[in-house]
Amino acid sequence: MMKCATRTVFADKDFDGAIRDGADELKKGGLVVFPTETVYGLGANAFSPEAVKNIFLAKGRPQDNPLIVHIAETGQLDGIVAEVTDTARALMKAFWPGPLSIIMKKAKAIPFEVSAGLETVAVRMPDNDIARGIIALSALPVAAPSANTSGKPSPTLAMHAYEDLCGRVPLIIDGGPCAIGVESTVVDATGEVPVVLRPGDITPEMIAQAAGDVRVHPSVLGEIKQGEVCASPGMKYKHYSPEAKVTVFTGGKKEVAKTVNTMYHNGKAQGRKTAVLCLDDCANLYPDVRHIVCLGKDAREAEAALFRVLREMDDQNFETVFFHAQEEKMGLAVMNRIIRAAGHEIISAKEEKV
Ligand code: TXA
Ligand code: MG
Repeated sequence: MMKCATRTVFADKDFDGAIRDGADELKKGGLVVFPTETVYGLGANAFSPEAVKNIFLAKGRPQDNPLIVHIAETGQLDGIVAEVTDTARALMKAFWPGPLSIIMKKAKAIPFEVSAGLETVAVRMPDNDIARGIIALSALPVAAPSANTSGKPSPTLAMHAYEDLCGRVPLIIDGGPCAIGVESTVVDATGEVPVVLRPGDITPEMIAQAAGDVRVHPSVLGEIKQGEVCASPGMKYKHYSPEAKVTVFTGGKKEVAKTVNTMYHNGKAQGRKTAVLCLDDCANLYPDVRHIVCLGKDAREAEAALFRVLREMDDQNFETVFFHAQEEKMGLAVMNRIIRAAGHEIISAKEEKV
C-alpha cells in the first residue's frame, strides 16, 4: 500500500467544493472517506477492481468480506444488479434513500473484488446529501465499507476515520457527526421472504410491514447462551473491538447491577481501570462506580453513541468495560454490535453466583 498525504475538506464550509473534490478523486480511481447517515464510508469506483483492491489494503480487510455498493438514484441499478425481485422493489420504495442495504443478484459488471466472489451484491442509497452528491457528480456506483481499520468500531466522526486511515487515503470529507451511528441494516432480498443478515436502524418489524414478512438470520445475536462464554458461532471475524476488554451483562436490571457492582469492586481492588456503560435509567444503580457512561434513553440514542463511546474508552485507556445490556430497550442493532465487541463474552446475571 502506497503511503500518501491525507487532505481533509469541510463540507459545511464549501459544500460544492467538497462534492467536486470527492467526485474527482473517485473518477481518478482514488479513495474517498465520506459521511453517510449511518457511519463514514471509504469509497472507490465500484467498477474498478484496482480501486476496490486499495480499499481492502487501506483497511486491512479480509478479502472474502464483500462490499456494499452505494448509488444516488435507482437508475444506476441497471448496470449493477441482474434482477430486482418484488421483495427488493418493495424495500427500496419504503426505505430508500436510507439505512438499508439490499442484497440482489449481481450484474456481470460488478467485479469479483466487490462481491468477494459471490453471485450477489449489496446495494444502498444513502440518505445524506454529501454522499449522494459525490456519487451523482462522479456518475459512478461507489463501493464503500465503513471507514475504519478492520476490526475497530465504525467511524461516526471524520476524526475517527482520520485516526485509522491517515496516510492511507488522499481525501476525507468531514460532514460532521453521522445521524444514526450504526451501520445499515443488511437484508437479503433475493428470495420471497427478506432475511436480515445485519440489524440496523431499520428493524425487522419495519421490513415485515413493507414486504409482508421477514426472517432474522440466527447469527445476528450469535445465540446468547445463558451464563456461558460462547465461542463465536457463525462469526468469522472479531468486530467493533476496542482495546479494552468488553463484557456484556444480561438479565434483570437489579440482578445485573448486583453482578456488575461486585465485579467492579473486585477489579478495582486489583487496580483495573473499569467503566460501566448503560442506559440513562440504570445510572442510579451504580452509585459507587467512578466512570459511568450513559448511552441515552432508548435504542436510537444508544445507536448514535455506541461507537464513539467505545473509541473514547481506548483514548482514556480503560482496561475493562462492563456493558449493562437491556435488550428490549436497546434494540437488535446495539445488542448485535456489543456482542461482537465483547467477542461473545456474555454473563447472564440470573445464573451467576456472586
Ligand atoms: O451503513 C453502512 O452500511 C456503511 C456505510 C458506509 O454505508 N457501510 C458498511 O459497510 O457498513 P461494511 O463493508 O463495513 O459492511 C458491509 C456488510 C458486511 O457485513 C458484509 O459481509 C455484508 O455487508 N455484505 C455485503 N455484501 C454482501 C453480500 N453480497 N452477501 C452477504 N453479505 C454482504
Ligand atoms: Mg464495517
